[in-house]
Amino acid sequence: MTRKIFVTTALPYANGSFHIGHIMEYIQADIWVRFQRMQGHELHFVGADDAHGAPIMLKAEAEGITPEQLVARIGAERKQYLDGFHIAFDNWHSTHSPENTELSQDIYRQLKAAGLIYTKSIEQFYDPVKQMFLADRYIKGECPKCGAKDQYGDACEVCGSVYAPTDLKNPYSTLTGATPVMKSSEHYFFKLSDERCRDFLKKWLDEAGHLQPQVANKAREWLTGEGDKALGDWDISRDAPYFGIPIPDAPGKYFYVWLDAPVGYLASFKNYCAKKGIDFDAFLADPSTEQIHFIGKDIIYFHTLFWPAMLHFAQKKTPNQINVHGFITVSGEKMSKSRGTGIDPLRYLEVGMNPEWLRYYIAAKLNASVEDIDFNPDDFMARVNSDLIGKYVNIASRSAKFVTEKFGGKLAEVKPIQWLGGLPSRADLISRIAEQYDSREFGKAIRDSMQFADKVNQYVDVVKPWAMAKAGDNDDRLHELCSEFLDYFRVLTVLLAPVLPQVRDKVEKFLNCSLRTFDDALQPLPAGHQISAYTHLMTRVEEKQLDALLDIEKEPAKVTNSTPHPATPAKSGVTPPSQPSPVKGEGVSSGADTPTISIDDFSKIDLRIAKIVNAEHVEGADKLLRLTLDVGALGTKQVFAGIKSAYDPATLVGRLTVMVANLAPRKMKFGMSEGMVLAASGEAPGLFILSPDAGAQPGMKVK
Ligand code: 2FM
Ligand code: ZN
Repeated sequence: MTRKIFVTTALPYANGSFHIGHIMEYIQADIWVRFQRMQGHELHFVGADDAHGAPIMLKAEAEGITPEQLVARIGAERKQYLDGFHIAFDNWHSTHSPENTELSQDIYRQLKAAGLIYTKSIEQFYDPVKQMFLADRYIKGECPKCGAKDQYGDACEVCGSVYAPTDLKNPYSTLTGATPVMKSSEHYFFKLSDERCRDFLKKWLDEAGHLQPQVANKAREWLTGEGDKALGDWDISRDAPYFGIPIPDAPGKYFYVWLDAPVGYLASFKNYCAKKGIDFDAFLADPSTEQIHFIGKDIIYFHTLFWPAMLHFAQKKTPNQINVHGFITVSGEKMSKSRGTGIDPLRYLEVGMNPEWLRYYIAAKLNASVEDIDFNPDDFMARVNSDLIGKYVNIASRSAKFVTEKFGGKLAEVKPIQWLGGLPSRADLISRIAEQYDSREFGKAIRDSMQFADKVNQYVDVVKPWAMAKAGDNDDRLHELCSEFLDYFRVLTVLLAPVLPQVRDKVEKFLNCSLRTFDDALQPLPAGHQISAYTHLMTRVEEKQLDALLDIEKEPAKVTNSTPHPATPAKSGVTPPSQPSPVKGEGVSSGADTPTISIDDFSKIDLRIAKIVNAEHVEGADKLLRLTLDVGALGTKQVFAGIKSAYDPATLVGRLTVMVANLAPRKMKFGMSEGMVLAASGEAPGLFILSPDAGAQPGMKVK
């Protein structure tokens, strides 16, 4: 039966570039989507930018542009990432769109008609200078318990106590430094506490298939919490100034960004339907349609409680499946949503790394659980070079040339009886791997495919076609065997096609056949089928590419700082990733090129005078020098600096310079890097480290 499926990934905030976490999610969804299409199902896959909210408004303001301009700029850079990693969304839209306004307002009206919306006055901090209400993340002050300065309004990072923003002593607005005042305003609430909502959600969470078991458990915990853990009503309004969708009949009130964000899934689909002549309402009204969302574990709350309830009480289709994945770490380092990680997706492409390596690696690591996955460079290289190239591609490169050189490129008959012994039948292998893709057990699909490739290679090793060709005494058998190996290679190509669509395209040309469905792999090609000459399918990962990706995140010629660090992601002419987050701890997002920061932000950076007591080349690194720095009372620090092109290490020893002393240490291939030295660079050639005036001493603070 043909399934009708509508698939989305979480909508990224429109004020930062994609980071590796976004790309991982899109690759996961894209593999699943490609697989379903290969089964012949009707599937529509859409995404959009999540455009609204205070952080985007403030970031645009800081850059001196309108939020619309900011959203347009970020929107314009999405394509290079999506195309670059072969992520085949059918449509990419924005929550700042007529479709989203109409749908969000319509949902709201329905919820209101159902008696689930009410208003209530609430008191909140207000910045009298900026003339806006302040979300908690824009308020800081002294901890009411221990008196520590500059603490956010929910918890003290020094003593760990938890409190409300109103408990802070001497609170100030991080936007203007002004003392906030309490001001009341009317807010709109969605009555999640209503018995109807609770009953519906309880049932929805219990229905099999909607959620992974651990996700359903978490959501049930929230739903059934009691006392101060009880699920409260949801404040869905924000006061002007706000970049959002106006609430109907409520002047000066806007929907909170998290109300209209998921509606953006529908808005993007509606926009796509209009372009394609699909009946949007009919597609979603069809009870057989499946609505499936891929999201990260940080946004479970919104997607498993608010979103299904909103849809249900607005008389709309509710999600059939919410597939939650974990985070991606890089060499075990946790990634921050706002900072990205040590891997910048554009840099990955810029250094010439093949997007299908990453797709393959991520697929090999993913399963249907919410576990985090780790990008480990050595593991990456091993899996790509040993498995993908060494096992899969190798089968074709070992057998094709005999068919083209000795048999005019024509295949011999592949008899079903020749299917490898000790393995499931062809049909069983194909259906088992199909089942693994369908249930998002991609790691298992890759493992089973590679086990099969192993068997084939063992078979090739035993029969040694090269020796048979040399002996030349049994060409018929050689012809049959090589045709059989190519048949196995063809099966593997189909099985890996959701992950490696570009390789599949190349193999289609090479084998001169269509490899668009899993059924295409069920039968071997007929005797006499003409194939083309084998051309290289994929190169191996080279260590220097990984070095370029991981070790030098910034090109010294283009940027000022020289030591790579996840807090300063790779940027060669692209906007640094920065995202607003519902999580505390982020100030106003800053501009891409000339960010505005508060003095408070600046004071977080511990700049120190450092004496270079040793400088040396680093074996195997093209651009790095290893510096040993004396930082006075802070002791000695080792820093890898990308200044090799500009300095002979001998000339550096004994010099004073300036370092960032409080960057989290970073484990690099060559050792720990415990900070960063500052250097100037610009359009003109050259790279110049800083020196203080005479008299400065190692360890002195630079303020
Ligand atoms: O956490 C985020 O990045 C949000 N922009 C995700 C929104 S998902 C959906 F609701 F739009
Ligand atoms: Zn405290």
